[in-house]
Amino acid sequence: MQKLRRTHTCGELRQSDVGKEVVLCGWVHTYRDHGGLVFVDLRDRYGMTQIVFDPECGKEVHEIGRSLRSEYVVAVQGEVVARPADKRNPKIATGDIEVRALRAEILNTADPLPFDLTSSDLAGEEIRLQYRYLDLRRPAMQQILILRHRLNHLIRNYFDQHHFIEVETPMLGRSTPEGARDYLVPSRIHIGSWYALPQSPQLYKQILMVAGFDRYYQIARCLRDEDLRANRQPEFTQLDMEMSFVEREDIFEIIEGMTALVFKELIQVEIPLPLPRIKYADAMLRYGNDKPDLRFGLEIQEVSDLAGETEFRVFRSVLESGGKVRGLCVPGGADKFSRKGLDELEEIAKRFGAKGLAWIKVEAERFNSPIEKFLPGPIQARLRERFGAKPGDLLLFVADKEETVCAALSAVRNHLGEVLNLCKPGDYKLAWIIDFPLLQWDTEENRWVANHHPFTSPMDEDMDRLESDPGSVRAKAYDLVINGDECGGGSIRIHRPDVQQRVFNLLGIGPEQARKRFGFLLDALRFGAPPHGGIALGLDRWVMMLAGLNNIRDCIAFPKTQRATDLMTGAPAPVDPKQLKELGLK
Ligand code: AMO
Ligand code: AMP
Repeated sequence: MQKLRRTHTCGELRQSDVGKEVVLCGWVHTYRDHGGLVFVDLRDRYGMTQIVFDPECGKEVHEIGRSLRSEYVVAVQGEVVARPADKRNPKIATGDIEVRALRAEILNTADPLPFDLTSSDLAGEEIRLQYRYLDLRRPAMQQILILRHRLNHLIRNYFDQHHFIEVETPMLGRSTPEGARDYLVPSRIHIGSWYALPQSPQLYKQILMVAGFDRYYQIARCLRDEDLRANRQPEFTQLDMEMSFVEREDIFEIIEGMTALVFKELIQVEIPLPLPRIKYADAMLRYGNDKPDLRFGLEIQEVSDLAGETEFRVFRSVLESGGKVRGLCVPGGADKFSRKGLDELEEIAKRFGAKGLAWIKVEAERFNSPIEKFLPGPIQARLRERFGAKPGDLLLFVADKEETVCAALSAVRNHLGEVLNLCKPGDYKLAWIIDFPLLQWDTEENRWVANHHPFTSPMDEDMDRLESDPGSVRAKAYDLVINGDECGGGSIRIHRPDVQQRVFNLLGIGPEQARKRFGFLLDALRFGAPPHGGIALGLDRWVMMLAGLNNIRDCIAFPKTQRATDLMTGAPAPVDPKQLKELGLK
């Protein structure tokens, strides 16, 4: 007998197909044996179709139907029939019809699965990662990867329309410092020498500008050997781009256009443009961090001036040693936090270095607070005014050095956003964070390090303070923040070799070392480098945002665990001693 050949997918058949004879191929998602009739939901990438095995259609096909088990792979030939009105399933696209099997062929059997693909209770992540091919059969996972594909596709079209050229840059190269550890690859031909896998295509894309490509983009794989967090992977993907003869606003215009398009096409969300621009210093003051979640208010207020006029010893001593007192107001928060709830908030503040979290429950006449006795009447009035506080509100304060105040209040703020349900699904708040400091003091190594990377241009008006007051110099750097996550970062670059060397000097990279490590870049800058700048977007994080997920591993087909292992293949793994010998390694 002739082999069955697929005519339709499992997501395709509708009422209008009733009467057709079709062949579907797919996996047995569920089966229900009612003694007489056997119902099977047959699944493929495109959807699900109900197949009915009826003894009246022949003993042979009915027997096959009865022998089916979860995840068997089958081909079914049958007739499309309308379901009785009361048996229709509006939840699936093919819910108006079913296929009456006339012939069936088991293409492959399947052992009982290590976890159930149909259950709404997700199996543990470890087992899902170990059997990734099974987990990827779940329609929810397939939808994420399809969304990711559509994102890539939209991006490619958009950048093509805007005259960008896609150029592939090497995986085996020289280390580009992005602040993380490199993955190194030993050279067999040059024993003792190593390639570095790219942390980003940063230097290559700058060199492409020197080469005159004017507009470059790439969907680029980046590798960073860093400690992993919920939204980080050792291998991740950037939409990387660079442009010549531009200022910051030109980059913003291109990325904003892409952003609006992507949100509209993929999730039907209108993003109002232009996106807000928030200065780094303001973001730190108002939200305590440089990636604020703007879906809710709870803005932080400076109250050091008022705190100085209280009798609270903690506040006064912090201020005397140069610290700050800041706080935030939770509207209607007084009833929402019991003593235990307040202790929990304090725990969060302490986890981020604070020594405590002072609280005030605002009442009509007075404050209810352990520190009420230290607050003179006029100060209470001015605190109410500063926060616009009303009876029933809760005020929370941290006194410490500025960094700690920011870190602790920002953690408390984000926690409040979560527990008070202030972030509605489908709400997206994007912003550019601008005017970052160029440098950061590394207290461990006792030296300046680049906040972004060493190729970022200082702001013109700050250039003359580069050597005299490096800490005050701002950079032409910017981040794109979506719902409290850093989803992109870039800058206008240094395009003059003398400025590049001045920045290297600040970072402790003297001329000799600079020549050794970045001679090719310094040379390129000497041969007519145009002014240029660009950005890279973290595409895995974009997929997380667009799909409404909070686990980056769900956005990647074959991700690594938090411990950088691939549970499916077992990488990393020891290698053959022969391989080591060839590489001159022990
Ligand atoms: P940056 O290091 O800020 O900039 O990276 C750009 C964006 O990439 C994403 N990202 C990550 N996503 C997942 N896992 C990681 N480990 C990870 N690290 C970064 C973030 C981030 O905003 N060369 C510069 C770009 C430029 O200057 O043009 C760069 O790589 O969303
Ligand atoms: P104490 O006087 O130590 O009992 O503290 C009184 C209140 O002030 C408690 O609610 C503490 O959590 C809070 N508190 C203590 N230290 C700080 C600080 N550095 N910043 C903010 N609140 C604090």
